[in-house]
Amino acid sequence: MTTPANYRDYRVMTLPGDGIGPEIVAAARQVLDAAGRRHGYLLAYEEGVMGGCAIDAFGTPMEEGLIERCQKCDAVLLGAVGGPKWETTDPHQPRPEQALLGIRKGLRLFANLRPVKTFPALVHNSTLKPEVIDGVDMIVIRELTGGAYFGKRERVGDSAYDTMLYSEAEVDRLVEYAFGVAEGRRKLVHSIDKANVLESSRLWREVAIRVGARHPDIELRHMYVDNCAMQFIREPRQFDVIATENLFGDVLSDESAMLTGSIGMLPSASVGAEGVSLYEPIHGTAPDIAGKGLANPCATILSAAMMLDLSFGEREAARAVERAVETALDLGARTADIAAPGEQSLGTAEMTDAILAALAAG
Ligand code: IPM
Ligand code: MG
Repeated sequence: MTTPANYRDYRVMTLPGDGIGPEIVAAARQVLDAAGRRHGYLLAYEEGVMGGCAIDAFGTPMEEGLIERCQKCDAVLLGAVGGPKWETTDPHQPRPEQALLGIRKGLRLFANLRPVKTFPALVHNSTLKPEVIDGVDMIVIRELTGGAYFGKRERVGDSAYDTMLYSEAEVDRLVEYAFGVAEGRRKLVHSIDKANVLESSRLWREVAIRVGARHPDIELRHMYVDNCAMQFIREPRQFDVIATENLFGDVLSDESAMLTGSIGMLPSASVGAEGVSLYEPIHGTAPDIAGKGLANPCATILSAAMMLDLSFGEREAARAVERAVETALDLGARTADIAAPGEQSLGTAEMTDAILAALAAG
């Protein structure tokens, strides 16, 4: 039996952000702490200000020194940032999303991992047929600090341009990471590009082939991004690990989210070569339900489980949290976004309680 004195301890930077962010981060903390009591770890939390709330407080999308504060922690847990209040097309105005891009770049988080696994209890929720999505288990690995998101962009007269720039080294480390993940899975990597049109994609494909040659036990397939978008909804079970560049990955990961029936279920992790990693749900700030206690906390709780696994090596606790979410769903616990029409739905607190109860019973 572990006593509090020999608990393993970790420091977590929480960035609640805007909209439903604070509610779902609070829910995830409850689950993390409960899992810690059972599995012998103790978390200390810090809180940082980033997103629209930072613009309101300081006039900038991120509090000063936030990157350094994050680097002193063992992991970062982010809620969501943004909202209509701060939306603008004026390039001179601060936007909450700049904080997101800034923290990714600042912490050098070059790979974004978005696992997509259907929950048996929710297969009837998707807009796709159950027989298409049943058994889907894949992971989208998106390059996160390069490409059009960070290339030179400018307004010139009445025109505008963005630059999609990649170096061989940037492609190599992302694809290598994907192969590493594939090692522990079905040993199949799909590299997604637009090599029939884009020069940066031709470089991507060349490097992917080179990386593939270093991993003869893993199958590498190439697919154009437009075809990939179609294959996701035609036959999603054909995919295991998907490696792609930043903008393609942004679009494909939202699409893949719908395979599970709700974007409210999907976690993500952003990792670098070394240092602290960042965990966040895929969904946004849902301003329409913010502060009402209705948000689905599952994606954030599952992101916290990824944190336990990838940052702390608390594999057992991570699995226990994942199982608790599944059990709560199996027992019929549903927030409004995942409830069937006419089905009774729970608020954030009750949904979290259902997961805590499953964790205690598990
Ligand atoms: C995401 C989001 C962000 C992105 C936005 C909010 C800047 O869509 O994490 O996928 O495009 O990367
Ligand atoms: Mg996105």
